[in-house]
Amino acid sequence: MYRTKTCGELRLSDKGRKVTLAGWVQKVRSLGSMTFVDLRDRYGITQLVFEGDPGLGREYVIQVEGEVVERQSKNPKMATGDIEISVSKLNVLNRAQTPPFTIEEVSDGGEDLRAKYRYLDLRRAPLQRALALRHRLSQEVRTYLDKEGFMEIETPYLIKSTPEGARDFVVPSRMNPGQFYALPQSPQTFKQLLMVAGYDRYFQIVRCFRDEDLRADRQPEFTQIDCEMSFVEQEDVLDMFEGMMRAMFKNALGVDIPDPLPRMSWYDAMDNYGSDKPDIRFDMKIHEVTDLVKGRGLGVFDSAEYVGAICVKGQAEYTRKQLDELTEWVKRPQVGAKGLIYIKLGGDGIKSSIDKFYSAEDLSKVAGRLGASTGDLILVLCGPRRRTQGQLGVLRVEMGGRLGLRDPKVFAPLWVVDFPLLEWSEEDGRFYAMHHPFTAPKPEHEALFRSDRKEDLEKVCANAYDFVLNGTELGGGSIRIHNADMQSRMFEVLGISKEEAEYKFGFIINAFKYGAPPHGGLAFGFDRVCSLFGGQETIRDYIAFPKNNQGRDVMIDSPSLIDKVQMDELCLRSTEG
Ligand code: AMO
Repeated sequence: MYRTKTCGELRLSDKGRKVTLAGWVQKVRSLGSMTFVDLRDRYGITQLVFEGDPGLGREYVIQVEGEVVERQSKNPKMATGDIEISVSKLNVLNRAQTPPFTIEEVSDGGEDLRAKYRYLDLRRAPLQRALALRHRLSQEVRTYLDKEGFMEIETPYLIKSTPEGARDFVVPSRMNPGQFYALPQSPQTFKQLLMVAGYDRYFQIVRCFRDEDLRADRQPEFTQIDCEMSFVEQEDVLDMFEGMMRAMFKNALGVDIPDPLPRMSWYDAMDNYGSDKPDIRFDMKIHEVTDLVKGRGLGVFDSAEYVGAICVKGQAEYTRKQLDELTEWVKRPQVGAKGLIYIKLGGDGIKSSIDKFYSAEDLSKVAGRLGASTGDLILVLCGPRRRTQGQLGVLRVEMGGRLGLRDPKVFAPLWVVDFPLLEWSEEDGRFYAMHHPFTAPKPEHEALFRSDRKEDLEKVCANAYDFVLNGTELGGGSIRIHNADMQSRMFEVLGISKEEAEYKFGFIINAFKYGAPPHGGLAFGFDRVCSLFGGQETIRDYIAFPKNNQGRDVMIDSPSLIDKVQMDELCLRSTEG
């Protein structure tokens, strides 16, 4: 037997017990006549004491026999900190080269180095905790959905393009020269076909693939908790998955979330938070002040469609230098504002960057609308309505962060509902589906949806919803179109010709002709769920083997070239030479 106990479980009550442990050598401290070794496994760390020098190096894999003894100097920070093992027998199971970085709670290795030796980084406790949380959450999901009668059904990875808005990863088909499979951006069409097939309640914890620009919360392959239900309305879906989230929060974190969860319309989210994924851990709402500031000769305001502001509590002390820095910050391409106007409500009166145009009384009116009082700082942006609200939204989150209002241990989930069905693209001169082309309009807007006027179509609300947590979209879904006519109308509105619709989606339009039940569902981004539950913004540590920002796995060095024989077999020729 390799071990009788793990490195995380021995306590003072085990004193005197003879045990066998196995694990990795994390640290060696030699005191001449005695050597202390920290032995690590997934369960924890146990201190070993050797007489003399056992000749061990970091990350050696060893087995020891010995007796549990009480420590002279206890370590209250360690679960096993009251005891140590007085070693009587050592068996070196495997030697190790000195690792390129320290494998401890906090490592001295840089990100690239740790990515290259991911299997060593994964030995570290923070990553082990992250993956343990992921495991816990996936078990909670399965338990909840199984109890609710959902069936876990797998869908194929080698499919035809699904339109979720990103680029597809494609796979050449050797047996069909010149033809390609696409990897699914989500199992959207398959789960709908499972509803047509009568499976009623489906789920899958499933890998999805999207070739898009990467960010902290985006990977080219990621995992969804993908769900679909038949004979449901929006309310049924929200209820079901609010319940799932509640169980996950309770059972994995011991956290109670509000019951019911708050809901906000997309329009309110945009107007008040400048974002369709509002962070409601803090207030600092956006207020429109266009009517209060127009017509006083200040060109930027007079020519603007919209003027809006946020009130940053208690920050009237912001210095000129800090405000200049903030102005540069909002001008960065990531925010895209043209400039920033401030109003300070100092103890010695109101000061602003627009004093020339407005009296103290004018500015008090603005302050009044924002609910600002002495000591507060008001920040104002102007421009086209939605764009400016978006910029104010980014500024709001930044200021919230600076004021320490975005505590990752505080959880503020909500549903955002009533999305517009369609989004007009000036650039392409056509509508795009805001969620995806299978989303149904609200029943009361079906007539509008038949209209040919752009203004009418812009007003159509979707039966769609997003689950938002702390400013991140964790999940989204909709009630689907389940009627062939309506689906064809959707493709028509999206400017997809009959032929193209037939070629790309003929199978689903056809399926709808054979008795499709009303259905709807949603998908959560599982990696995002894990990272936010774990209090982190980046999802990488919650994925065992993630890609870097260039979409590379630097450990296995992928993507990489393939040899000529393989290329020939696939009928491929590279233009990269
Ligand atoms: P959607 O495209 O909104 O909906 O995706 C659902 C959730 O998946 C997560 N997500 C990602 N996570 C990590 N990396 C990515 N690149 C990435 N892209 C998306 C997000 C998002 O909320 N088929 C529909 C769902 C439905 O209608 O049922 C869909 O895929 O957390």
